[in-house]
Amino acid sequence: MTSPGEMATQPEAARQRSRAAWDAIAPGWYSEREELWKTSRPVSEWMVRRLDPQPGDTVLELAAGLGDTGFMAARRVGETGRVIITDFAPEMVAAARRRAEEVGVENAEFRTLDAERMDLETDSVDGVLCRWAYMLMIDPATAFAETRRVLKPGGRLAFSVWAAPERNPGLSLASRVLVELGHIPPPDPEAPGAFVMADPRRIRELVVGAGFAEPEIEEVSFRRPFADQDDYWRFLTETSSALSPALRALPGEARSAVRQRVHEAAQPYHFGEGYDFPAVCMNVVTH
Ligand SMILES: C[S@@+](CC[C@H](N)C(=O)[O-])C[C@H]1O[C@@H](n2cnc3c(N)ncnc32)[C@H](O)[C@@H]1O
Repeated sequence: MTSPGEMATQPEAARQRSRAAWDAIAPGWYSEREELWKTSRPVSEWMVRRLDPQPGDTVLELAAGLGDTGFMAARRVGETGRVIITDFAPEMVAAARRRAEEVGVENAEFRTLDAERMDLETDSVDGVLCRWAYMLMIDPATAFAETRRVLKPGGRLAFSVWAAPERNPGLSLASRVLVELGHIPPPDPEAPGAFVMADPRRIRELVVGAGFAEPEIEEVSFRRPFADQDDYWRFLTETSSALSPALRALPGEARSAVRQRVHEAAQPYHFGEGYDFPAVCMNVVTH
């Protein structure tokens, strides 16, 4: 995990470690792609609706992962427009290309690109999408400033971050268990992490600080079911840049103990053989 001290003194090392962690779990994201998209689609539908891309527009997706949100915009910009699907992890970009072939998107181009320093012209895109990523960046203020720079005047930004951890138990309870059992230190509220932009005041501060208009912020909820314990355990060990390395590094017995404690902690969400978790995002649009 990245500490504030390290971010201040060695931001490049922290960035490289984050990129390597995302590269390593790109195959896990690709395996989960159908379930991930099916369940989280309302979040992206909100983003694309509020971005409101027009035929002929150029839309940039930052930290795109598999690119499904950008592909939704690709259908709106049509043959005369294009979407630029980007991520700083080359393996994610490769997975997004495969995903585009699978879902039949042809007006997308793909680039490895760090959102904190974009190799893109100033005032060059009509809209920007970014789902579940600004809060993971080493320097989100710089990423928002870069976003403002590449957007044409008046161009919109639609993004999504996670609401508070207690509202996203499927994402947060395993890390709580790892802390309780002494396997990882408590999360540092200053360091990048899934929930560090949950507070609307922090969202406003970053967005307005980068020169954007006062943002509109709306909660979007969805459900994240898992068929059984194995299904959820696979999700935790194969798709979390923060948790997967810690979970996979646990020796056998400690691993079983964590797994059992996670199952117990998830008791309110047990459903059939598996689980049914609520999930809440803070969706944001500005210009
Ligand atoms: C939680 S995933 C979200 C992926 C996708 N946007 C989605 O909603 O499914 C976070 C993504 O952010 C990317 N990422 C993190 N920091 C980044 C940065 N500074 N620049 C570009 N991509 C970044 C990771 O490689 C990863 O693909």
